[in-house]
Amino acid sequence: MPGKSRPLQQQPFRYYLRAHPRVFLLGVIALFLTNLFDVLTPLGLKAGIDALEARDASRLAWAVGAYALMMVGVTVFRFCWRIFFGRFHHTVAEDLRNRIYDKLSELGATYYNKTPVGQIISLLSNDVNTFRMAIGPGLLLVLDAVFYSAMILPLMISLSWAWTWKTLIALPLLPFLIRKMENLLHERSRHQQDRLGEMSGRAAEIVSGIRPIKSFAQEQTQAQSFNQFSRRFEHACNLVAKADSAFHPAMQFAVTIGSVSLLWFCTADVVSGAITLGTFVAFHEYIKRMVWPMSAIGMGISMIEQGRASFDRIRELLDTPTDIPDTGIETIKEFTRLEIRSLSFRYPGANDEALQNLDLTINAGETIGLVGPVGAGKSTLVSLLCRVYPAARDSIRVNGIDLADITRASLSETIALVPQDAFLFSRTIAENVALGFAEFPGIEPVRDVATTVNIDHEIQSLPRNYDSPLGERGVNLSGGQKQRLTIARALIRKTPVVIFDDSLSAVDGKTEQAIVAALKDRRARYPQQTVILVSHRLATLKHADRIIVLDKGRIEAEGQHQDLIRTCATYQRLHQLQSEGLGQSATELTGANP
Ligand SMILES: Nc1ncnc2c1ncn2[C@@H]1O[C@H](COP(=O)(O)OP(=O)(O)OP(=O)(O)O)[C@@H](O)[C@H]1O
Ligand SMILES: [Mg+2]
Repeated sequence: MPGKSRPLQQQPFRYYLRAHPRVFLLGVIALFLTNLFDVLTPLGLKAGIDALEARDASRLAWAVGAYALMMVGVTVFRFCWRIFFGRFHHTVAEDLRNRIYDKLSELGATYYNKTPVGQIISLLSNDVNTFRMAIGPGLLLVLDAVFYSAMILPLMISLSWAWTWKTLIALPLLPFLIRKMENLLHERSRHQQDRLGEMSGRAAEIVSGIRPIKSFAQEQTQAQSFNQFSRRFEHACNLVAKADSAFHPAMQFAVTIGSVSLLWFCTADVVSGAITLGTFVAFHEYIKRMVWPMSAIGMGISMIEQGRASFDRIRELLDTPTDIPDTGIETIKEFTRLEIRSLSFRYPGANDEALQNLDLTINAGETIGLVGPVGAGKSTLVSLLCRVYPAARDSIRVNGIDLADITRASLSETIALVPQDAFLFSRTIAENVALGFAEFPGIEPVRDVATTVNIDHEIQSLPRNYDSPLGERGVNLSGGQKQRLTIARALIRKTPVVIFDDSLSAVDGKTEQAIVAALKDRRARYPQQTVILVSHRLATLKHADRIIVLDKGRIEAEGQHQDLIRTCATYQRLHQLQSEGLGQSATELTGANP
């Protein structure tokens, strides 16, 4: 694999040709030999026909033998160049895909918030493929055209200069026509891919939202909407088919013009005996063959142009700077404290600040509760602590070190986040829980954390226990089960800091109490573990060492349960509502719409 420090972004064609010179050169040599044997075959044919006319059996046998040998040469070398070039352009595509994937892993949430998934997938599939076609088949077509015409033209001229110019005079127009047609085809193919992307996106949305669609009896409406996308795709396919079907007739027409010219201008020479019939047949073969390089050069140039345009889009992604670069060099050996100083944060493009001037210190071993109405900034704060978004310099420090100076690996070994949206992969339960490990740690630690989150008995009742495969995004689990598995996934890594972002919202009160009790037990085993619990339910936070009340991006109050009931109006109302059983969430407290 080529080193990534070389300037790929400036000269992609040169870069890849230099990176894989051997396989490319072998392909070029095989292509050259294929062309050589191919252009010699009409001469074999000519020798055969002339021998036939002369009734010379031994010359005929030689001519047939030579002809057969040339055909074998064409077959063998055509096989070889396909293998070599195939290897070359597929290796290039693989390298490019890996680079794009590496870049995508490096980019932060800011990029994903503003870039549609379809656009990223199109880059990985369509654009990589268009560039592959340019550097493989596109480049090959141009080389093929150059070799082929450079070999055929002298042979045609040697047979008859007058015939050559009379039959080929209009042929140089063909590359321009073919290039135009190829560009049109590409434009329409792209349009077709876009329609396909839209239709697939719509289908995926309908399939994943099938439950609300059914419960709102919207099947018919959705079917009509899908039908529109499907019809647009069909229309795009028809346009592609029309553009595509023009190629063959265009080439055929060019051959016809050449053949008619040959018959019109040149048969007199054969009739007069100035030129043999064999020469006439061979010349006709060359006219047919000359149409190919003229078309190939048009196609090849167009493919290279399209490849360049696709590479420009890829380059744009590869050049996108990440807002959370992994350039830190510090590591956290033993977590002691987390300090937040004058932390403010505004989402890119947003008018208001999501967090304003926050100050907070959390020491190792503390259990901190974080409560507040919807949109108060709780998830934003924990995202910043995990460096999902970049925080201003020195506003967040771990053990006195700015977050940006800590390596990503060390930060992830220090802080584990259980996000608000439980996301599971379509792998087994055990693999989902052990996601944070490079190698599977064995079933015992997985069972241990599953017991802590009170899900072990439910997993044991499944036919394949911990090896049960989950559907896409864990669809075959309940919301509460998904949440508990994502908690287990964070706990198994035994990081010094664990953050639960409203991670128990989908479990019932009894299960929640059991998990909170198990977490307290766990605290006896890991006394230095720091826990940040974001929750709307006060009962969950009751045993926290400190509770932070966040409202409109500011810390409204900080203290223990008993103090806050007396001093913090928001907390007081929340407590009142929940103890009266009027509501469980801060949504009801504030009357805000989620
Ligand atoms: N990706 C984003 N881009 C722009 N604004 C955002 C984004 N995510 C959140 N916000 C805004 O930031 C504010 C804080 O949101 P946040 O998700 O932190 O609230 P929260 O306290 O976690 O609420 P909840 O209790 O509903 O989870 C809200 O006004 C929200 O609209
Ligand atoms: Mg939130």
